[in-house]
Amino acid sequence: MISKSSIEQVFETARVEEVIGDFVQLKKSGSNFKGLSPFSDERSPSFMVSPVKQIWKDFSSGKGGNAVTFLMEHEHFTYPEAIKYLAKKYNIEIEETERTDEQKEQANERESMYLVNEFAQTYFQRVMLKTDQGQAIGLSYFKERGFTYETIKDFNLGYCLDDWQAFTDEAIKKGYQLEFLEKTGLTIVKPDKKFDRFKGRVMFPIHSMSGRVLGFGGRILTADKKSAKYLNSPESEVYHKSKVLYGIYHAKQSIAKEDGCYLVEGYTDVIQFHQTGIKNVVASSGTALTPEQIRLINRLTNNITVLFDGDAAGIRASLRGVDLILEQGMNVKVCSFPQGEDPDSFAKQNTLEELTEYLEDNAKDFIQFKASLLMKDANKDPIKKADTIRDIVNSIAKIPDQIKREIYIRECSRIMDISENVLFSTLAQINKKEEQEANKTYQKEKKDQAFNVVKSEMPTKKIDLQYELERKIIEILLLYGTETEDFEDLVLKETEDGDLKLEPVTHHAKVFEKIYLDLQEDEMQFTNPNFKTLYYSIIETLNQTPEFSTKNFVNELEQELASDVTSILMNDERYQLHDWERNNIIPKEKKHSISQLVTQTILTLRCYLIDKKVAEYQMETKNENANSKTILEDVKDYLGLKMLLSRKLGKVVG
Ligand code: CTP
Ligand code: MN
Repeated sequence: MISKSSIEQVFETARVEEVIGDFVQLKKSGSNFKGLSPFSDERSPSFMVSPVKQIWKDFSSGKGGNAVTFLMEHEHFTYPEAIKYLAKKYNIEIEETERTDEQKEQANERESMYLVNEFAQTYFQRVMLKTDQGQAIGLSYFKERGFTYETIKDFNLGYCLDDWQAFTDEAIKKGYQLEFLEKTGLTIVKPDKKFDRFKGRVMFPIHSMSGRVLGFGGRILTADKKSAKYLNSPESEVYHKSKVLYGIYHAKQSIAKEDGCYLVEGYTDVIQFHQTGIKNVVASSGTALTPEQIRLINRLTNNITVLFDGDAAGIRASLRGVDLILEQGMNVKVCSFPQGEDPDSFAKQNTLEELTEYLEDNAKDFIQFKASLLMKDANKDPIKKADTIRDIVNSIAKIPDQIKREIYIRECSRIMDISENVLFSTLAQINKKEEQEANKTYQKEKKDQAFNVVKSEMPTKKIDLQYELERKIIEILLLYGTETEDFEDLVLKETEDGDLKLEPVTHHAKVFEKIYLDLQEDEMQFTNPNFKTLYYSIIETLNQTPEFSTKNFVNELEQELASDVTSILMNDERYQLHDWERNNIIPKEKKHSISQLVTQTILTLRCYLIDKKVAEYQMETKNENANSKTILEDVKDYLGLKMLLSRKLGKVVG
């Protein structure tokens, strides 16, 4: 932990205009500074820094804050990383507190390992550029692969001499301890000798998000069948293979700016893309993606495009890994390259324009891609077709957002020529099975409570549905609040023979009015305090100003709410909607989809609240004094209402 007094000292010393000045060209404008937003592509400056208030504001993205938040936004530092960066810039000595001796030792150990890695990176590069063997073997290899001098410098590529312990000797001569050379894996220590792990290989340093050297990949240059083509640093205190993504340090800026990330397999794929001009690219280094790696990307964007080498077997094998990305709520596209090509070879042979065009033309929505691909195999074989349906619906079931799931079901129904009902019931089966399984685990864990398991307590819900729905409502209000729509509601009517029947009634209303009235009717309250404040303030603003501008709205909010709104708007749902339209996932014109979105969201929220209510009642029946008869009546009423709502939802969706 950094001590409080150190943090205070950093805040007192750091000048926001100086900190930002290292990244953005600022010009004096009155008492403020102005510049081009580093968070969007713009021609006229809307980025302001106030030296008096020591804050900054980006009017194009709505972001803002102090020097530390700027570093967190721009460099994607964590809070401690930002403080340390500033301390270094202003020569402030950081005091660490509350650490046990053991923690201190560990921190020192990690620090020493970083230093060794840093030294190794510099050493390998110097050897490659300055020695005869380095130039003749390492440098010429990279040249042959088409890497320029700038690229080599940029990625700190290097070469390890084909000599048993040239590197180890040099490191020890420079005062680095053998202990850390061994712990980083750079040196392999045997009882009678020690030698360089990467002997005779070209070196790819692997960097953390903030640019520290975590480890290395070394590629062999001879066609030796016995040794692995790539050798990587072993797992250590500083290198955890499952938590790093090759290229993240070089890509982070561009991933955030482009709001998207390409995922490739290899070191050279990343580098070649970069050199060609596509910088938002990272590599999983040949293994299946882990949740930690996905979260690393998720900090920067919600959109990921997985690039496959051009062989069909590989693609089918890789499809499974993609479900993991869906599970994290990301939007996934996939793109494959022509037979025999990988991203590296393809980028090498094409210009930036050609590569960009290829990616634009060939990147397909993952679910659509999977559905079409598998249907090609399964069309003639009914049994295979059933498996395929389950396979795809399994993928869809991973998506946390219910509305997205339903839209995908409709799209797959079209692609696979299967009725939506079949797909929906398969989805329900899968959900039920998962719930049962989660329930089983839960019961095992809590045997004594097993009898009275309440649904809302079960660990099945990976996401907080109520939070998502409240957020969705805010999003709809911000994006479409003032639009006038035709809302089709289903009203319960008595027929001539005395039956009850759901009949459609259309009415014309502004989106925000419809939402306000519906929620009021249900006496629905937002549970998230920020969303609640936002909700009332949006409704009020919309009521007063027909020309609602999100930008003006954001600027008047306090920091925390502004950043909530920004992140909701940044979510890219709007563009996605447009994408869906382009790809005909949402049929008919946009108007239709907005009213549908509104109705679905509100109905889903109502269903959810009813479930919650019923669960509460179930809890209550455990109480001895409870009047179980009235409770049962109430529950029955609620379930009846739920059925009605589900039918409405079914109609809207179907
Ligand atoms: N990889 C690895 N160990 C291996 C083989 C591969 O760690 N023995 C990882 C590397 O990160 C490599 C990635 O998997 O970059 C992809 O492997 P592959 O497609 O075989 O290599 P390329 O990147 O195409 O390498 P090259 O073009 O240099 O042959
Ligand atoms: Mn390759």
